[in-house]
Amino acid sequence: MTTSIPKQRSPRNRTLTLSEEDRNRLSPTLITGLPKRPVISPRTGIIHGDCGDWAKLLPPGHVDLLFLDPPYNLDKSFNGKKFARQSIEAYTDWLDSTLHSLKHLLKPTASIYICADWFTSLSVFQAASRHFIVRNRITWEREKGRGAKSNWKNSSEDIWFCTMSQEYTFNVESVKLRRKVIAPYTHATGEPKDWERDKDGNFRDTHPSNLWTDITIPFWSMPENTDHPTQKSEKLVAKIVLASTNSDDFVFDPFLGSGTTSVVSKKLGRRCLGIEIDEEYCLLAAKRLESAITNKTIQGFTDGVFWERNTLAKQLTSQEKSSNGSGSRHVAQDLFSLENSHE
Ligand SMILES: C[S@@+](CC[C@H](N)C(=O)[O-])C[C@H]1O[C@@H](n2cnc3c(N)ncnc32)[C@H](O)[C@@H]1O
Repeated sequence: MTTSIPKQRSPRNRTLTLSEEDRNRLSPTLITGLPKRPVISPRTGIIHGDCGDWAKLLPPGHVDLLFLDPPYNLDKSFNGKKFARQSIEAYTDWLDSTLHSLKHLLKPTASIYICADWFTSLSVFQAASRHFIVRNRITWEREKGRGAKSNWKNSSEDIWFCTMSQEYTFNVESVKLRRKVIAPYTHATGEPKDWERDKDGNFRDTHPSNLWTDITIPFWSMPENTDHPTQKSEKLVAKIVLASTNSDDFVFDPFLGSGTTSVVSKKLGRRCLGIEIDEEYCLLAAKRLESAITNKTIQGFTDGVFWERNTLAKQLTSQEKSSNGSGSRHVAQDLFSLENSHE
């Protein structure tokens, strides 16, 4: 375990941290120690270990959704463990053998999502197309980081969507995006064409595209934020889980990090197994998972639709309406703190 001096944080900073008491309480919840024999039935929870070692021991053919967010082909440190940028060929080979080691865990109907920055993307397509049917590349706007002085600022990431076969789950109605209507065309009768009129503005629930501009990277005033350097947002993972799984399906994340996939799966009623090599991140994931038992809020996903950025007021009104005022205060407070200084 790495013990570090606690950072000084502003009172409004809601970044999730671990106390000694958290560590003592949550350590026993982690799955540790490689089993001597292959595991017969699927296990849920958080494994503290190496996904390469565990992949050989987990049951074949049980995973509905594989979410893969590996270290990118970059120089990066994860709690002191350094990953160095390799040649495209070397990274592609590493990814290829990782996919090879995980493939037998997947059901014939499984979906696979693989995250990448633009450079890593070159390898992902090559490696993924050797194992799976590559169906699409989602690009999402990553609004964070400094501008580059001698290059274009890097403001996007990719997620490659693949399936094992032609038979797979895609719940398009579950991942609609509520968008403001710019040109409110009407029928001759004056009735809205394909959009809805609301006193808070006109909107349309649109089918999702492969260009996502509604994602906010976790930051200090959001309760889902941790000190993990490459944490994905719950909203991003929720889109994938909702589109590509059904209730009680099995989600697997072998590079779990701060636990976003486990948390989202829990909130949406899916089973999940995650593997993470760093104990500190495992414990952060366990702490997030613990609160997901009672707090099902996912930022930007309200009333069964995803919302664009800067729509807090509208989300609150919608939440008030659907819950008839009761029980919405908790959600409202959470959303306020979530979006207060950013979204
Ligand atoms: C890109 S991050 C994942 C972030 C995660 N999606 C989240 O939302 O927090 C990759 C993670 O993989 C972990 N990792 C690297 N090699 C691993 C291995 N062989 N087995 C398990 N985890 C590993 C790193 O410690 C790091 O936390």
